[in-house]
Amino acid sequence: VSADVRELRELYADATKLYHHLLVNTAAGEQGLNYLHGRGLDDGTIDAFMLGFAPEGNVLLNFFTEQGRDYQLLRRSELFVERDDGSLVDRFSNRILFTIRDRSGHPIAYSGRKMSSDDDQPKYINSPESPLFNKSQELFNFDLARNGIRQAKEVILLEGYMDVIAAFQAGVTNTVASMGTSLTPEQVQILGRNAEKIFISYDADHAGQAATKRALDMIQKDGKMAAQVVHIPGTQDPDEFFRAEGADAFKSLLQKNVETPVAFGLRYLRDGRDLSNQQEQLSYISDAIKLIAGEREPVVRDRFLRQLADEFSISLPALNEQLRPLLLQQT
Ligand code: GTP
Ligand code: MN
Ligand code: MN
Ligand code: MN
Ligand code: MN
Repeated sequence: VSADVRELRELYADATKLYHHLLVNTAAGEQGLNYLHGRGLDDGTIDAFMLGFAPEGNVLLNFFTEQGRDYQLLRRSELFVERDDGSLVDRFSNRILFTIRDRSGHPIAYSGRKMSSDDDQPKYINSPESPLFNKSQELFNFDLARNGIRQAKEVILLEGYMDVIAAFQAGVTNTVASMGTSLTPEQVQILGRNAEKIFISYDADHAGQAATKRALDMIQKDGKMAAQVVHIPGTQDPDEFFRAEGADAFKSLLQKNVETPVAFGLRYLRDGRDLSNQQEQLSYISDAIKLIAGEREPVVRDRFLRQLADEFSISLPALNEQLRPLLLQQT
């Protein structure tokens, strides 16, 4: 690696130690520590994930300045915001810090969460990209999860930091998060090199379901992993489910509460459509056939076509006739 990267890594390692120390050992971090304990995290987990706290003011800048660190390095690090007059101020203020690590475990960025919901600031503020942090290539927790993923040949993809951390604390260690932003083809490739199967368990809200659909399409395009969508009963996100029900209950969802990509896609297609309307019904059927055409296994395609045939009283040969040219287009 370049000298620049080496210096930045060292800076982030020191920043992470300071932020963690402030969280676990100082009065300044007490509110943050109480917040994390209140969300069910124990001290071992807080250590393992190098969670931190950024107080108000320029704690980090003062720390590095007293050490006589190179000003240009501090500028390049993206740990600070540069004012118009060229002076630096701490980027993170009065926030819990989720430390984002690269695949070797080096801290490379932070995501700062606010602790109260009574203002209109964004819930999370992330580090911008830097020579260390290429957002589209990083998956939260891939370093700690990699062994578990390889052993199981399976990866569980979750939405948020708290979801992954709760899973880890419960003992489910093959989970990563796409960090809210929609999954990228690069992230899919990384996972595809380590797993044969991917379980997607995003939040049940509309954003989570739309992101699930985009992820499934990307995984299919990449073509390396089989995908399953996990449904958590009710509206809990995985973090809440792990806390309330535990790891065994989650593992049993992986067996019993999963959907294939086509089944998910068909449900997603129906969402918000009025199928009693003739026009919408026809457009649904046509979209459904396109979706089914993307399924590789003929037997599975047949099963879904039969469902369509039954539901809308269409002949199977008619459905097959419409499907056939779509199959040819793919090869
Ligand atoms: P908690 O509310 O702490 O449980 O977080 P969450 O992970 O459940 O949050 P949510 O489901 O709203 O968002 C999922 C993920 O999207 C988060 O973990 C973040 O990575 C990302 N995200 C959410 N809100 C924001 C935001 O305001 N800004 C940015 N940059 N990312 C966000
Ligand atoms: Mn510690
Ligand atoms: Mn969400
Ligand atoms: Mn969530
Ligand atoms: Mn949550």
